[in-house]
Amino acid sequence: MVLKKEIHTKREGFSSSIGVIAAVLGSAVGLGNIWKFPYVTGANGGAAFILVYLLCVALVGLPVMLSEHLIGRHTKANAVGAFKALQPRRPWLLVGGAGVLSAFLIMAFYTTVAGWIYAYIFKAAGGALISAKPEDTFGVFNSLISGVGEPLFWQWLVLLVIGTIIMAGVTKGIERVTKLLMPLLFILLLVIDIRSLTLPGAGEGLAFLFKPDFSKITFSVVLAALGLAFFKLSVGMGAMITYGSYVDKNENLPKMAIKVALADTLVSLMAGIAIFPAVFALGFEPNQGAKLLFVIIPAVFNSMPFGRVFMVLFFMLTAVAATGAMLSLLEVPIAYLTEQYRWTRRKATLLTILAIGLLGSTATLSNSVFANVIVFGKTFFDLFDFTTSNILLPVGGIFVALFVGWQWGYAKVKREMSNEGRLKNDGLVRIYMFLVKFIVPIAIVIVLLAGLNLINP
Ligand code: PFF
Repeated sequence: MVLKKEIHTKREGFSSSIGVIAAVLGSAVGLGNIWKFPYVTGANGGAAFILVYLLCVALVGLPVMLSEHLIGRHTKANAVGAFKALQPRRPWLLVGGAGVLSAFLIMAFYTTVAGWIYAYIFKAAGGALISAKPEDTFGVFNSLISGVGEPLFWQWLVLLVIGTIIMAGVTKGIERVTKLLMPLLFILLLVIDIRSLTLPGAGEGLAFLFKPDFSKITFSVVLAALGLAFFKLSVGMGAMITYGSYVDKNENLPKMAIKVALADTLVSLMAGIAIFPAVFALGFEPNQGAKLLFVIIPAVFNSMPFGRVFMVLFFMLTAVAATGAMLSLLEVPIAYLTEQYRWTRRKATLLTILAIGLLGSTATLSNSVFANVIVFGKTFFDLFDFTTSNILLPVGGIFVALFVGWQWGYAKVKREMSNEGRLKNDGLVRIYMFLVKFIVPIAIVIVLLAGLNLINP
């Protein structure tokens, strides 16, 4: 009987230090770096936005990430179960519940874009993207996203792929795939960076990326930067609580969070360097929104030798990065359903994928069937994107920070953060506690209210 119980409650976990970093980084690095970071930077004026973004990562995103890892590892539970374990009688578990909801909403539009990426692998290989003129590559993109059957097919294929990996489990599925392919993506980005930087006229793009013009900063720009920081680091919705729950008790959590945030930011900047010099060199406008990646990157590849081969590789690796991120998104509801309701992993995965597919189809059809369905001034796609990044994740972040700072308490946090006293990181604990008690919640509240025009500071 005892034995049976033990088997039943044993949780899988990441099997090595490298595996943990790869998986957590695999969650952070994704379409956020390669697709979203460049286009949001382009839409918000470039360098000054990047500076604000870096501040948001360091002062807000990073402490929230560490908080989630601490909560997850301490409780060894999913997003809802973790709060329940620490505070059974209080409504804190709603924070976890909101996280599960956010995971659904993010997946709804994320799988749309991931579907476009999957489709681009085949378009690039098949020769549909051989022009170096952005007008031509734009035509290809536009016909893909404004279709019905084609984008839906790719989105559901994406769901099938991640569903299959998730069913294989934490160690065998998530860890193995991410560990293998992350370094490859990095190298390929480096190759594109070099090509983009050596195009005639690339300097203007670099200036756009690195020469700040602070007159472009408004509160809604700051809110976009904050939302991007949350989305990028996969925080504010329990994904990092869930992943933290698979992390070994000897892992140095603050060090890990810092490494992940640095590496993730580096990948975003490299994606920016791949895109903006080329945008200017090819005479294109930087504020093109969501289509930026899909139009510019093919044009860049087509202006270099062996471009087609590199282009196929690039979209394949982007697909892998997106897949790693989606695994962590999906793991949030899966861990919740299997642990709180005792569903089998298979049942939880199948039903979750189905629900996401149905909701996500409305996002995919935002450029065709539902183009005229506007809710709060936005299409379904934009609505899911905006409400998660710019509202739900930051709000989740406020509560995670308040929970650790004021509810869990200094002594317990210190014990978890120092691995029961084995790490000597007193000073760090103090700085961290100051951030989560005061800076993080106050900064988010101000940026949220001002960014949504609810107050006028
Ligand atoms: N961080 C991922 C990216 O930048 O693509 C997106 C993401 C993954 C957000 C997992 C939230 C999450 F839980």
